[in-house]
Amino acid sequence: MKFVRNQWYVAALAEEVGDGLLERTVLGESIVLYRTLDGAVTGLANRCVHRRFPLSEGRLDSAGNLVCGYHGFTYDPAGTCVAVPAQQRIPRSARVPTYPVVERDRFIWVWIGDGKLADPARIPSLPFLDDPGWAVLRGMAGVKCRYDLLIDNLMDLSHETYLHSEWIGTPEVAETPTTTTTDEDACIVWVSRHMENVPCPPSYIPSMAAKGFSGKIDRWQDIEYHAPGLYLLNSRIAPPGRPPAADGEDSHAAHKKIVYAVTPSTAGTTYDFWCVARDHEVGDVEADTRGMKSQAAVLGQDVDALNLLEATLAGEPSGYQELSVNIDTGALAARRMLARLAEAGERVPQG
Ligand code: FES
Ligand SMILES: [Fe+2]
Repeated sequence: MKFVRNQWYVAALAEEVGDGLLERTVLGESIVLYRTLDGAVTGLANRCVHRRFPLSEGRLDSAGNLVCGYHGFTYDPAGTCVAVPAQQRIPRSARVPTYPVVERDRFIWVWIGDGKLADPARIPSLPFLDDPGWAVLRGMAGVKCRYDLLIDNLMDLSHETYLHSEWIGTPEVAETPTTTTTDEDACIVWVSRHMENVPCPPSYIPSMAAKGFSGKIDRWQDIEYHAPGLYLLNSRIAPPGRPPAADGEDSHAAHKKIVYAVTPSTAGTTYDFWCVARDHEVGDVEADTRGMKSQAAVLGQDVDALNLLEATLAGEPSGYQELSVNIDTGALAARRMLARLAEAGERVPQG
């Protein structure tokens, strides 16, 4: 799958951009991210104009300018060179490109493509990630696979039954059909799987206890994929036969919102930024520890599987065949959307 340009991508968790310099390669473009003196995040192309030394190996000076670590060319946050060694005159072409950057919902988003087209209103809204009413666990995993394999993985959760059986997979996940809908203009794919009166998977048993129910559950998985890179899984577990009220009131259920921001790095590597938000056991350190353990295990299983799949596919002759069935409907819708967006992104003249 080609990269989709002229889009926003998550390049970092907010807390990853601290006092220093952070390098991220997004769609093959190396970017140095840092905070200016007022705390805003800026992103510059990670190459010094002098001899192309990576600026991420330099340092920030007391004025908030970035000093190249090789010979000291110094850049302000707009990418303009403000000092070169041993001369007063600064060549007019001494400027590094900047990237549009937005910090929102505790993610750092960068725009890859023509900066004139960057519209922050197009960034998916995730307010629960910065809401004290939700407990949020977060992290980032590097995956050695092309990004569309990770999208495939997330869009088809039937794999939970086989890959994650000790944690979140039960036979009913794979057995229950899904419904898929799309909004081609908004570039969203929804996949829903509603399991009724089913056993609770091991990782969710404490959530059930925290909400005061036990035994079998209704378990809903409602995926909302915003192409190209933002995936949200709305997970709901509740006592059987108790859907949300007509006005949406649903406090008898336990909810999780599981976010994966899938950011292509290189052709064969992908950043997998993840957040698991829950509306119960908020402020409960033990629940955080449990949640991290489960997420680390599940994510590790996905990463291992995807690393293996990429290594396998990389060794296949080109034009290999796949066989898709009903469970692939959501993933295929996502693939079609990505292909369309990739084509549209290429047609936009690059600035
Ligand atoms: S390479 Fe940056 S100052 Fe020489
Ligand atoms: Fe998985």
